[in-house]
Amino acid sequence: MDKLIVEGPSKLNGSVHISSAKNATLPILVATLLCPYPVKFVDIPELMDVSTILKILQSMGLKITKNGNELIADASNLENQHADYSLVKTMRASVLVLGPLLARYGVASVSLPGGCAIGARPVDIHLMGMEKLGAEIHIENGYIKAKCEKLKGATITLPFPSVGATENLMMAAVLAEGNTIIENAAMEPEIDDLADFLIAQGVKIEGAGTSRMIIHGMDIKALKPNPKSYRVIGDRIEAATFIIAAIMSGGDVRVEGFIPKHLTYVLETLTKMGAKLEIGTDFVHIKNSPRLKGAALETAPYPGFPTDVQAQMMALMSIVNGDSIVTETIFENRFMHVPEMGRMGAKVTLKGNSALIEGVETLSGAPVMCTDLRASAALILCALVAQGESEIQRVYHLDRGYEKIDEKLTKLGAKIRRVKG
Ligand code: EPZ
Repeated sequence: MDKLIVEGPSKLNGSVHISSAKNATLPILVATLLCPYPVKFVDIPELMDVSTILKILQSMGLKITKNGNELIADASNLENQHADYSLVKTMRASVLVLGPLLARYGVASVSLPGGCAIGARPVDIHLMGMEKLGAEIHIENGYIKAKCEKLKGATITLPFPSVGATENLMMAAVLAEGNTIIENAAMEPEIDDLADFLIAQGVKIEGAGTSRMIIHGMDIKALKPNPKSYRVIGDRIEAATFIIAAIMSGGDVRVEGFIPKHLTYVLETLTKMGAKLEIGTDFVHIKNSPRLKGAALETAPYPGFPTDVQAQMMALMSIVNGDSIVTETIFENRFMHVPEMGRMGAKVTLKGNSALIEGVETLSGAPVMCTDLRASAALILCALVAQGESEIQRVYHLDRGYEKIDEKLTKLGAKIRRVKG
């Protein structure tokens, strides 16, 4: 297993271009299952999770061609509608294939995704919605066995604005008979991007990005290939990670290639804490921030504070002037970065789903272990500003969702090297 050796402290300077969003790329690649023709993409990010989803799609017969920064996905002739446990267990977003397979073939056999480090992560909302659309679903030997004559449009009210369930049901609704209304839909920018992709194939969708979305069901023959290659939106979570890294290091960094509007709550919180930010339409310029002051925040569905930036924010809070409190309301076990940050001198007390962080002057380098994607990012941020050397183990967690993060940080002046393991 690879590890990263980070020598701190370093001041980051320069500019970094953000890659396309992992959490938009995954559902959009899955949505090509609906399209009986080749779909062209540009700048699909090279991430472990992307190669996993492509492996699952290829196991069903999707053909992938890559030339340079272009990727063509062709689901004209799928061979099966089975998503195997061996692949699904490595990435729970694989459950998103359920909707398009049911919509197009009326049958699907998808391994129940296991939980993961940050929580049990059930898929009950996904399955409730599919049944509302007329699917018959039962669980057999750890697999979701689903079938239907033809999905029928329905009004589905989600008990929680689940991102994955919203995406799964959007895709299922595309080929259903009649219209589907999703009430209490997730409103994340990645949902909006999936809708934009589907609209580019000829689907009629209203209210994407709001809590009430209407998908007009259609015949598969009405889907049409879009002449333009599709480019996924910039990754707002990666952008937030680099913005926080720049603030922690006191550097002068321009983070570009994403939409700052997608990070409003995060940028407002950082500004309130004292960060000096120039916010453009497709960049944020961080200018030598002073030592910030603490804050209180609670994660929430979009447009609230994103849970995927919670760990990185705690890394920042560990070195601000004063105390902070963070409450995690989305996942039940998303504080696993805390003990590891403690090994670097961070002072964090956990109480239920809240963390009290007492800002310290400096952190010290130490060997630490990654446990999940965003916890890994938090450890990198701490190591960048810590005194001395840190060894970040099990960086495969990081490689799931950050494209070439060590190279990007090195370009900004970080002293970081990967040791192949
Ligand atoms: C997506 O996960 C993201 N993953 C996550 O990012 C992100 O943290 C999450 O949305 C919340 O924003 C991708 O997009 C691939 P949810 P998802 O369904 O769809 C519960 C990262 O770091 N729930 O909105 O799984 C669930 O247990 C990853 O990039 C049910 O109870 O999130 C959780 O507590 C981590 N039943 C909450 O809802 C269901 O059927 C949020 O889950 C579905 C979800």
